[in-house]
Amino acid sequence: MNAWSNSRRRFLAQFTLAATGVALSPFAFAEELLRTPPQTEGPFYPDKLPLDTDNDLIIVNNNLTPAVGEITHLTGRILDPKGEPVRNAAVEIWQCDNTGVYIHTADSSGKKRDTNFQGFGRFVTGPTGEYYFRTIKPVPYPGRTPHIHYKVKSDGKELLTTQCYIKGHPQNEQDGVYRGLKDARARDAVTIDFAPIKSSRIGELAAKFDIVLGMTPAQA
Ligand SMILES: [Fe+2]
Repeated sequence: MNAWSNSRRRFLAQFTLAATGVALSPFAFAEELLRTPPQTEGPFYPDKLPLDTDNDLIIVNNNLTPAVGEITHLTGRILDPKGEPVRNAAVEIWQCDNTGVYIHTADSSGKKRDTNFQGFGRFVTGPTGEYYFRTIKPVPYPGRTPHIHYKVKSDGKELLTTQCYIKGHPQNEQDGVYRGLKDARARDAVTIDFAPIKSSRIGELAAKFDIVLGMTPAQA
């Protein structure tokens, strides 16, 4: 065997080892982001969509009267497991009004509801995967700690249904759905700050909820 084939064999062996090393390294898995845990849809995904389904839940159509509640600018990014932004994802949120009533007829019939609150909104992501809603800070209702429901769809297929929660809210620890998340990191992934915007004269809040999907739209 000549020197060339020896060194070539060594090169190939090293190359194979390196390739195997990458494939087996725990870091290969660590590169994948923690996926946002799915959460129950609950009973109040709107049975009848509101007339207005845009991303501003504070104003219905061209109403002059805004919804009651602490105005929150809710943003985040929709990411795939590798951290790549997902474009053309339809992000839907729904939540109860400031008195704890959903627009779903099973909840709102017989109750007084804030008809100026849209209760549901939709946003389709662009190339950066970002979404934006103007809504209210969620409030508790009997049996539940405050939360906002989310559904992410692509091409009409559902990629994730989940909920997000207020960091530090005392009722989180008593909430059955929240407690169903046994892993502390999974809880952290759906628990977000609602922080005052310093420059806002009307006490608006900012909240950020990034969502990491367990599958790409192509896998759905
Ligand atoms: Fe709910």
